[in-house]
Amino acid sequence: MEERLRELEAEARAALAGVENLEALEQVRVRFLGKKGLLTQVLRSINTLPARERPRVGRLANELRVRLEEELADRAAAIKAQDLERRLREERIDVTLPGATLLVGRRHPLMRVLEEIEDIFIGLGFHVVEGPEVELDYYNFEALNIPPDHPARDMQDSFYVSDRVLLRTHTSPVQVRTMERMAPRLPVKIIAPGKVYRRDDDATHSPMFHQVEGLAVDRRITMADLRGVLQVFAEQMFGPDTKTRFRPSYFPFTEPSAEVDVSCVMCGGRGCRTCSHTGWLEILGCGMVHPRVLEMSGYNSGEVTGFAFGMGVERVTMLKYGIDDLRLLFDNDMRFLRQF
Ligand code: PHE
Repeated sequence: MEERLRELEAEARAALAGVENLEALEQVRVRFLGKKGLLTQVLRSINTLPARERPRVGRLANELRVRLEEELADRAAAIKAQDLERRLREERIDVTLPGATLLVGRRHPLMRVLEEIEDIFIGLGFHVVEGPEVELDYYNFEALNIPPDHPARDMQDSFYVSDRVLLRTHTSPVQVRTMERMAPRLPVKIIAPGKVYRRDDDATHSPMFHQVEGLAVDRRITMADLRGVLQVFAEQMFGPDTKTRFRPSYFPFTEPSAEVDVSCVMCGGRGCRTCSHTGWLEILGCGMVHPRVLEMSGYNSGEVTGFAFGMGVERVTMLKYGIDDLRLLFDNDMRFLRQF
């Protein structure tokens, strides 16, 4: 047995001498000290020796085990040190190379413009409210003076969920919801931003787009108030020299109704391609709240009046930044979005 131990020690030293990396070193460890290793087997078979020899051989075997373990640890340390030396000598870090850049996110141009619109109206004393995108036919049409067979429904060809429920085609239902909640308190001064849905899809129409509704109800509100508020808005949004123009129009829920143009942001009104050489760009529809809408929502149309408007956020964004295709706003192309 002692002979066997001497042999093992010589074998192990020979094996260690040839080791040059950590993997090979591990193989040597397994071969001698692993669960089925050569020295482990010797240690296990000591109980087959005559009792009086066991202590001495056991001690020798254990001493050998400890020596081998120390040797392995030394070799491992030496190999690691060598590796480090080599890397320090050979590897070169070029500190002039550009580092990995972190992409910093930013707000989508639509959301930026939406926030700007909100800020302007908050400054004019309006509150921001929201309403549901999945809306009752009653709020989207009927309470806005658009009865079931009214042709105005065709202009807003719609996504229906059931006979009585649809994706709202405009933010105007929030007018009604707000007045129902507020009546008979005065004044009402709110804007209602949000998504709306229509069956429309081309370079200037998307089936989902954003509107900001505005509503003011109080005693003695007139069309002059509407003009003043929208003039201030136009100047703050598009610049102090911006002019506005009201053209007669029709909406079932306002009377009289108007469409509002701003002087072209590209040419300042002289006429260019963006404004089709008219000098004007349409941004919203508006009017004085129809007495029937006031009554249906709980206000006395003999005592109060109101104005309302609804503007397209995509339109305002396109005009403000000179974007010629609406779809760019929804493609999520970084080359486009990075510019804002
Ligand atoms: N809801 C109308 C539309 O989407 C816009 C509008 C709002 C007109 C408020 C008048 C008053 O076309």
